[in-house]
Amino acid sequence: MNITVIGTGYVGLVSGICYAELGNRVICVDKDRAKIDTLLGGGIPIYEPGLQELSVKNREAGRLSYTIDLQEAVRQSELVILAVGTPSLPSGEANLSYIEQAAAEIADVMNGHKIIAVKSTVPVGTNERVRDIIRSRTSESFDSISLPEFLREGSALQDTMHPDRIIIGADNHEAAETIAELHRPLTDRIVVTDIRSAEMIKYASNAFLATKISFVNEIANICEKVGADVTLVAEGMGYDKRIGHAFLKAGIGYGGSCFPKDTRALIQIAGNVDYEFKLLRAVVEVNQDQRFSVIRKLETIFDGRLEGKTIAVWGLAFKPNTDDVRESPALEIIRHLTRSGAHVKAYDPIAISNFQSMYGEDSGVEWCGGAMEAAAGADALCLLTEWDEFVQADLQELQSILRKPILIDGRNVFKEEDLAETTFIYYSIGRPRLNQGVKEEISALHY
Ligand code: UGA
Repeated sequence: MNITVIGTGYVGLVSGICYAELGNRVICVDKDRAKIDTLLGGGIPIYEPGLQELSVKNREAGRLSYTIDLQEAVRQSELVILAVGTPSLPSGEANLSYIEQAAAEIADVMNGHKIIAVKSTVPVGTNERVRDIIRSRTSESFDSISLPEFLREGSALQDTMHPDRIIIGADNHEAAETIAELHRPLTDRIVVTDIRSAEMIKYASNAFLATKISFVNEIANICEKVGADVTLVAEGMGYDKRIGHAFLKAGIGYGGSCFPKDTRALIQIAGNVDYEFKLLRAVVEVNQDQRFSVIRKLETIFDGRLEGKTIAVWGLAFKPNTDDVRESPALEIIRHLTRSGAHVKAYDPIAISNFQSMYGEDSGVEWCGGAMEAAAGADALCLLTEWDEFVQADLQELQSILRKPILIDGRNVFKEEDLAETTFIYYSIGRPRLNQGVKEEISALHY
């Protein structure tokens, strides 16, 4: 099939490359010339394991091309996929201006029947809006499809090539069948719905996953007070098939470009039809508060005085295996630390430069070139992203280079046996058993 994908962000680029890998002829279009130049030069503008190799392979096979020329791309394609961004407006609503602009541009260059599929995450009713825009500008025939995407950053290729399900929202059986055929090599679990239900499935899925995370984080906070261990609680709960183990990892809360944005948008979508989504509001509130659990633990240790302390931070990306720092908990945690007068030594294996651009100037932060360099001489270390490099760190070495052996594990990566041979003052999330003895040791430090 000849396919144009508009937008080379995570969703557009990964889907485009994967459709090419399936044997289709794919043209990826973006307005951003620098991005297209990077792609044409054999590079990839985002960090995603395996993506660059697959891009090069499919370009060499003649199935994949990159361009800023939307007209030429659309004219050569039967299927046009919209995968442009839908960032949050200040109200929380999704900003649809990129989608609307792309729809108008497609309409203006159409040359015969097309299927127009929307892969961007869009509020219910947006596909109809796209259809109206195109109809108002062209007499060419077309079919609208909602084709929500469920890939995760960091495992995007695996998720795209082995999806749990494909959701196709359509009001035309033939167009739905064409899109189903395109995805059949990936899975048999293809669900065809009406367009509005498909749009809702995407938001409901992200909101539910975010709810699981906030739920387990609240359980973790209670575990700390009642002396239970949240990792054991989550394990025990997860064996119930109705619950499952996924997305029950307690920590400092969710970040990224999707859950924060989509939960806010769904609250707003509900609000627009006079429905208050109380549960989701609480999910967002719990998540916002959870990132400060790291600060609260530091404040307990240092008797509320962070001024003059040197705090090492391991991990700036919102999760491992990505250089994405959008809504990363590290942004607010570091800002709070420096405002409290602490000096921060920050390190991430991949995301430092993205973090610097988003965070901005701050004389209170020292950017470090390695994990141990960041930890050296610090009064405490906070682990905020569970990169393998941190999970596998030599804890003996770490203990010896910290000024005081204080380790705040915001992602519960270390196990009891890892800590057995160490004398860390160790705090994690919802595992008070591992924190035993902490109080006495803190007082012995005479802070
Ligand atoms: C998420 C969804 O998982 C994808 O299905 C969806 O396609 C995507 O949003 C999107 O809408 O585009 P992503 O944001 O890439 O994917 O990352 P996740 O792996 O879902 O993690 C999101 C956040 O939740 C991270 O900050 C992660 O650390 C946190 N998390 C995840 C937890 O705190 N605990 C968990 O158990 C799982």
